[in-house]
Amino acid sequence: MQVQMETTNPFSLAGKRALVTGGAMGIGMGIVRRFVDSGAKVLVADKVISPVEKYISNLPESNRHSVSVIDVDLLDVEVPDLMLSEMVKVFGGIDILVNNAGIYPTVPMLDMSPQLFDKVYHLNLRALAFTSKAAAKEMIKQKIHGKIVNIASIDSIHPSSVGLAAYDASKGGVLMFTKNFALEVAKSGITVNAIAPGGIATEGTGMSGSGTPASEEIRRMLEDFKKQIPMGRMGTPDDIAKVAVFLASSASDYMTGSLVVVDGGRLLM
Ligand SMILES: NC(=O)c1ccc[n+]([C@@H]2O[C@H](COP(=O)([O-])OP(=O)(O)OC[C@H]3O[C@@H](n4cnc5c(N)ncnc54)[C@H](O)[C@@H]3O)[C@@H](O)[C@H]2O)c1
Repeated sequence: MQVQMETTNPFSLAGKRALVTGGAMGIGMGIVRRFVDSGAKVLVADKVISPVEKYISNLPESNRHSVSVIDVDLLDVEVPDLMLSEMVKVFGGIDILVNNAGIYPTVPMLDMSPQLFDKVYHLNLRALAFTSKAAAKEMIKQKIHGKIVNIASIDSIHPSSVGLAAYDASKGGVLMFTKNFALEVAKSGITVNAIAPGGIATEGTGMSGSGTPASEEIRRMLEDFKKQIPMGRMGTPDDIAKVAVFLASSASDYMTGSLVVVDGGRLLM
């Protein structure tokens, strides 16, 4: 069988419409920047919107219409459908979903409250699953061969430190959700893949250089973590964003249900 080679840039996102959750900071903002640079139109869904408004105001005039923002708390069960209605209203539909929003409180299970456990599970797994459902339904309705990219973690497959039992359980769930949902929607031409970042310097880790700095305890934990990265440095949001472009573009058309580890070699240790 002769396979026709694409003549266009397979990494281009020109004309694609993307929804990025938790896109106001950290890895999410890195993804928003790369997507816009690659030609996509992006709706950023976050509970903090001022950094996105600042980013939009610094874009060249010709690009400002490429980014829109919706102020949502993903812990609200109505939000997945609300975000998809907004995508249809603003951009007419959806080609790409990036489920990025997540929290990683460090609390040993012996001190864990059911409320905090439920919050981690709800944001990291349930909101991701129901946003995927809402996006896939819209893609199927419009016969779009869409791409879903889930931000998992190296903790989806190996624990990185004590205090992350709830988080690791949620991220293990993200990995298996990715695989089973990929199986379910493959016949509709939708791919579902995940990225497993290692240690990334973001506002959430307090290592971004902006935002609230990490506490002394977290800083020590991250310094120990850094010593165990063969490549000798923490990752940047852009390290993850470039892989997100790959998984959101036609460059990854024959991949589904995969987990791409982006960790500077941390899992080799
Ligand atoms: N930073 C790392 O080292 C690392 C490593 C592995 C995986 N990850 C994963 O990457 C993703 C992003 O992490 P990050 O470090 O960039 O985080 P971050 O805290 O820097 O940014 C998270 C973003 O999500 C938003 N958000 C949080 N809760 C929300 C809610 N309830 N509703 C709407 N928006 C909400 C925040 O406002 C923020 O803009 C998470 O899923 C995280 O688990 C991060």
